[in-house]
Order: sequence, then structure tokens, then C-alpha cells
Amino acid sequence: MSNALSKHFHKTRTMTESICKPLSNEIFESQPADFTSPPKWHLGHSSWFFEEFILRPFMKEYPPLNDFYRIAFNSYYKSQGEHWSRNARGQISRPNVAEIIEYRRHVDYHILQLISHLKDNDSEIKKRIILGLNHEQQHQELLLMDIKYIIFHSFLGGTYNTKNVLLSSKSVELEFLPLEGGLVNIGANSRFEFYYDNEAPEFKYFQYPYALATRPINNREYLEFMNDGGYSNAMLWKSDGWDYINSHKDFKPLYWEQKEGQWFEFTLNGFLPLNLDDPVCHINYYEADAFAEWFGARLPTEFELELSYNNRVSLDSNFAFFESERLHPIIYNCVGSFFGLTGNLWEWTSSAYTPYPGYQRPKGAFGEYNQKFMVNQMVLKGGCMATPQSHFRTSYRNFFYPYQKWAFTGLRLAKDVR
Ligand code: AVJ
Ligand code: FE
Repeated sequence: MSNALSKHFHKTRTMTESICKPLSNEIFESQPADFTSPPKWHLGHSSWFFEEFILRPFMKEYPPLNDFYRIAFNSYYKSQGEHWSRNARGQISRPNVAEIIEYRRHVDYHILQLISHLKDNDSEIKKRIILGLNHEQQHQELLLMDIKYIIFHSFLGGTYNTKNVLLSSKSVELEFLPLEGGLVNIGANSRFEFYYDNEAPEFKYFQYPYALATRPINNREYLEFMNDGGYSNAMLWKSDGWDYINSHKDFKPLYWEQKEGQWFEFTLNGFLPLNLDDPVCHINYYEADAFAEWFGARLPTEFELELSYNNRVSLDSNFAFFESERLHPIIYNCVGSFFGLTGNLWEWTSSAYTPYPGYQRPKGAFGEYNQKFMVNQMVLKGGCMATPQSHFRTSYRNFFYPYQKWAFTGLRLAKDVR
């Protein structure tokens, strides 16, 4: 057991650093927006999590490397004392990248020591290490989101990776497949080795019959919405969304650029001509919702997407999740069945990110992990090509503010059948 855990630990920690391999020191330091973090901060923070919640409380002789790190790499845990402001993370010139790598080695060494001495009754330590690894996986995806945003906003441009594992999407007709309703179970239970507090408890839910699109909306359809005046028709928009797009002059998906009448899309492989068959990506909740309104359909609830996973045909793992090495979502196959329900791009749902019936906030600091964000955010389902496969579960609930669109977000439509 402890051997398997150290392997899992080592593999996950190494993966985070290999994501950062192509980065120059300048990219490592950059914070072009409040909501992004400098890549080097992610390296420090994911180590701080292990130090703060495992080494400091459970390892008697643990020697902290530097007390400033405790503040600098605390993201938002008020229970753990002072933390550096999120929007000032780009101001931390030291520790530099090499010093942060040294910090990672220090934390790695001590966690592996701790694992090798684990006893069967150390279940709290084991639980926290697994939480720390899931946390690190969340930051692996955040790293790719932030790296994309940083490179896009640099004056001289560039690419993250020139190795192009971009498969081209296939044009397939948009169909709606009917799904049964009934009294169903929603949420995580012990069939999963790990799940976050916000996925529990499992509860009964009554679902009306519904129909779900077999694939996400593609760029061709989204351009039709734009060319039909989608962004200037107030009737399609929620009030907050209308105010947002107009005050920010934000009338297209993030990373889209038009040059001489031709649309291009910035990807982690650089600028590419917009592929009309690719799923539309980097839209916010307001845009997804307005598109659904324009189309004459609606966004699915988080429950409708979760239930649909039981009906999906098995997805070739070569095409899904982080392991596929794709740096951009695609639409690859779909005839008369669902496809790409997970592991391609995050799908906006009409569900507000709120607790399930009977939810209990974890005691202490871990109550701050997910619960304190349960206001004003929307749930996304499905995972994306930047999500490590082992991180994903059908009950997984991602969440972002409705205006945010730097995650790999798109939409899949639903309809009522009544
Ligand atoms: C679930 C992606 C919204 O970005 O804050 C990272 C993930 N939680 N560290 C976030 C997370 C704690 C979280 N999201
Ligand atoms: Fe975090």
C-alpha cells in the first residue's frame, strides 16, 4: 500500500513539472490577469498544500524551508493565517523558479519519508495525501489554462508546444437523443476511492424525460449565432450577461481573432485557422446560455449530464483527457449515439454551484476547499483534454463564475420531451 502510494505521489509530482518543461523564466513569472496565477506559483502552492496540511501537523521533526512560503503559497485558507493576495502573485520575484524547485524537492523528500513510515492506523495522513494529489491534479489543469492565457497575452506571441497532436474534428449532424427520467441517484458514494465533499451525499432526484445533444456545439454553429447578431440581440441574454458583454466589449469567444476576414483561434499549439468542425471553446456561461436561447433549446442541468454518462458508448481513451496529449478539444465521431461526453471540454450546465441536500461542510481548513465558493458560480461537467483522466469522476463538479472563460469550456444543448 505505502509503496503504491509513493509511486502515485512521485508520478503526480513529476507530471506537474513536466507540464512546465517548455516554459521560459519569463512565462513562469507572468500574471496577466487577477484570475490567473504565475506558473511558478502553482509549483509552490501545490507543495505548500502538502507542507501545511500534512508535514507541519504530522511530522514532528519537519524543518520548514522558509516561513515566508507559508504566506506566499497559501491561496485562500483564512484558517491557516495570513495569505498573499491573489492579484499580487506576479509580484513575487523570489523565491525564483530554482528555489521553488528546491522547495518541491524538500517537500517530496519528507512526504516520501512519511509514507514509508505509515502505519495502518494513519488513515488521516493517507486521506490527506490523496487529497493533496487530487489538488495537485487540479493545478495541472489550471497550469495549462494559465499558460495559454499568458502566452496569448505576451506581446511577441509564441506557442506552448509545437508538437501537434491536434486531430481534426469530423462534421457530424447535431442530433438530440431522448433519455428516460425517473427517480434516480445523484452524487458520489463509496464506489469511488476518492471524491470531494461537494459531490456528496448521494441523494434521490426525480428527473423528467429529456433529450440531450449527441455532440457539443461546433464553431460553425457558433459563428451562425454571431453572424445572426447574437451579440446585439438583448432578448437572448440574461441581464448580467448583457451588461457584461457590453461593458467589456466582449463579443466573441476568448482566443478568437479575425484577420482579413478570416477567423483564427489561438491554441496551445499557436494560432490556427478556425476549424469550423471543432467544438466552440472558451465561452462563458452567459454566452452558452444566450446561444441555447437563440437555438431554441436550453442548457442541461448538472443532473442531466451526470445521468447521461450511464448511457454513453465507451469512449476511446486515446482521444480523451490529458493522456491523449491533445492540447485542444475536438469532435471526432458520433453516429446515433453520444460521444465525447467526458474528457474533451467542460460543458456549462444551468445548475448553480450549491450544496446537495444533506451536505456537510468538512471541519476545519478543508471546509474552505470547496464550500466557501458555493455562491454565484455555475457547475460544469465532463472534464477536458487538460484534465488528468484519473482525476475525473461522473459525479465531479467543476465550478466557475458565469463571466469566466479561460477554462476549456463549451456547451452541449438539451431539450424537454414533454
Ligand atoms: C475547481 C477549478 C474551480 O480553481 O480554485 C485548486 C480548483 N481548488 N485549488 C479552483 C482548486 C483548490 C478550483 N476549481
Ligand atoms: Fe489550490
